[in-house]
Amino acid sequence: MEKWTGKIAVVTGASAGIGKAIVEYFAKSGIHVVGLARRSEKIEEIGKQLGETPGKIYAHKCDVSDLESVKETFKWIEEKFGFIHIHINNAAILFYGTILDKRENATEKINSVINTNFTGAVHCTREAVRLMEKSDDYGLLININSIVGDSIPFGHGVNVYAPTKYALKAFTEVLRQELILSGNTKIRVANLSPGVVETEMAVAAGFVEDAAAMYQALPHVKSEDVAEAVSFILRTPYNVNITQLTIKPVGEKV
Ligand SMILES: NC(=O)c1ccc[n+]([C@@H]2O[C@H](COP(=O)([O-])OP(=O)(O)OC[C@H]3O[C@@H](n4cnc5c(N)ncnc54)[C@H](OP(=O)(O)O)[C@@H]3O)[C@@H](O)[C@H]2O)c1
Repeated sequence: MEKWTGKIAVVTGASAGIGKAIVEYFAKSGIHVVGLARRSEKIEEIGKQLGETPGKIYAHKCDVSDLESVKETFKWIEEKFGFIHIHINNAAILFYGTILDKRENATEKINSVINTNFTGAVHCTREAVRLMEKSDDYGLLININSIVGDSIPFGHGVNVYAPTKYALKAFTEVLRQELILSGNTKIRVANLSPGVVETEMAVAAGFVEDAAAMYQALPHVKSEDVAEAVSFILRTPYNVNITQLTIKPVGEKV
């Protein structure tokens, strides 16, 4: 990780779960990290809990589903640091329901999933790559995807979440090719697809009420395992591009 020491990273969805674990990993590894989320106070709390770390943690409020919020955020980052080296698109939401859901707020929820998981990642990526190019250094962008971005092992309940992850996977590859065609061989792009991870997501989405019982019955990995996979991608030499990395818990049936 030494080659990234002192570099600047941005992580979306940094207030909980996988994003939080990545922020902690970066700070402990000497990477300065800007954590973005709507609940930015939770990111400030992460910094306080960790205490002194070689990499500093900066919290900034950002709703990735809102283009103005994304633009304001990256303007703030540009004014503060000038450029960045690493960007992780991690923020995503899910709600338990169907595409044909008749509930009153279903359209709003469906739009929110698309705007957060896909459109949000697109807008953040455009800004992030612009700031990576300003650094004239090596850059790395990782999209936190999902195994449901590869296949649909269980269609019930996931509605547009899985399609946003399919789209994110295609987006990752198109971006990789665009960068090469434009002569930029310094910025690498990767798609990281976890299986089940123990986080707040399943409860927040309304899939289950008792997270502890669910994770006891279901093979899963921890957020820290996903952060470890991010670090694996970061540690590869500059001439190696891991384009796709899938991590499943041992015992996962799908
Ligand atoms: N958990 C799993 O089993 C699993 C499996 C495969 C892939 N993944 C993927 O892993 C990533 C992280 O998921 P997680 O399980 O860690 O979820 P989580 O615990 O629910 O955390 C989601 C994070 O996204 C942020 N977020 C949500 N909407 C946002 C918005 N509009 N703007 C900015 N931030 C927003 C949340 O922060 P605020 O609410 O403070 O904004 C929170 O920090 C997602 O891309 C997810 O699809 C998860």
